[in-house]
Amino acid sequence: MDQDLRRSAAEVLDDQWREPGFTCPNASTYPWLWLWDSCFHSMVNAALGREERAVAELSCALGAQDGDGFVPHLQYLDRSDAHETFWGRPHTSSITQPPVHAAAVVELVERGIELPDELIERARAGLWFLLERRRRSPAGLVEIVHPWESGCDHSPRWDDLMGDAFDHDVWFEQKGRLLDTIERSPGGAPLHNDAFPVGSVAFSAITAHGARRLGRHLGDAALVAAADELAGDLFARWEPGRRTFVDDGPTAAGSGRVRTAEALLAVLVAHPVRDRDVVAAVASELDDPDAFSGPYGPTQVHRGEPTYTPGSYWRGPSWPQLDLLLWWGLRDGPGEVARVAGRLATTSVRGAVASGWAEYWDSDDATPGGARPQSWTTVAVLMDS
Ligand code: GLC
Repeated sequence: MDQDLRRSAAEVLDDQWREPGFTCPNASTYPWLWLWDSCFHSMVNAALGREERAVAELSCALGAQDGDGFVPHLQYLDRSDAHETFWGRPHTSSITQPPVHAAAVVELVERGIELPDELIERARAGLWFLLERRRRSPAGLVEIVHPWESGCDHSPRWDDLMGDAFDHDVWFEQKGRLLDTIERSPGGAPLHNDAFPVGSVAFSAITAHGARRLGRHLGDAALVAAADELAGDLFARWEPGRRTFVDDGPTAAGSGRVRTAEALLAVLVAHPVRDRDVVAAVASELDDPDAFSGPYGPTQVHRGEPTYTPGSYWRGPSWPQLDLLLWWGLRDGPGEVARVAGRLATTSVRGAVASGWAEYWDSDDATPGGARPQSWTTVAVLMDS
């Protein structure tokens, strides 16, 4: 355990701590609360022994949950209503992000932290909203209603639905338009989007993983069964020729097949026997320097993809929070799979440090990308074991 790494991570988190109890991802680029970022911050604070902050941030992140169980992905906790017209509601966004909160709850509990019952119930309700109310794709995957819900905002996985060639401004406008076509519950919770009905492998994998972990922790058989069913549907999306899991819906024959790191997250819910060969194939992709592997962590897009653009936001570099989730998915695997997980963690931690805690970085030389320092990059503390 590297004490300098821990000290430096704690400093980043301290500098970006905000009232009433959350860490902003970056003081200037991202001054507000983002849902999945806060879940990662909470787990790092727990690992650093800062129990109070860990609980406060997770509570804050789930604090704006509505009666349907929907959790908005952005909160303007200074009560600013500057974004009200954009989202159609004051103080929060009107879409969500991957439900890492369920795994965070279990991580905190496993570190001996006592959590308020209300927090645990919010995490459970958040999962049921996604499992039961959110529309499923024909193959049973959980749909997202907007690229921002994936957290992987400009991933080439969305290309087919965003216009012609990738262009930052065109995408931004299209993302604005996509907010208008979301179908909502009477209470306003986002349920489906005819203009973006993507059954996302990555989002479904994080949902199933959270449901399985929380379900097992609570002894909630229904939650575990729902997770197992979704896990089965996910593994049916494995495409041996491409060595990736394919999204369901309108992108399934096109951009939904682009080989990305986030699409490999199905390994989070692999069955140890049934899915053994697929997990081994995923590990070998992540360890292959012609595919994803790099000296500073895995690339986010396979190096052989025409869309692979080193250094470009969500089109190539290494992203620490994905690295953590991939490591989780592989570290308990047999022999070589666990060794790959170890190498992935070591190289990602190296990238986090060499990039100066950048939001993302080039897998080959750690050139920093995006905001710096970025709070979620402190997940290196979790991978440095
Ligand atoms: C970017 C990322 C998103 C993250 C946010 C704050 O928008 O794509 O996943 O939550 O920044 O860090």
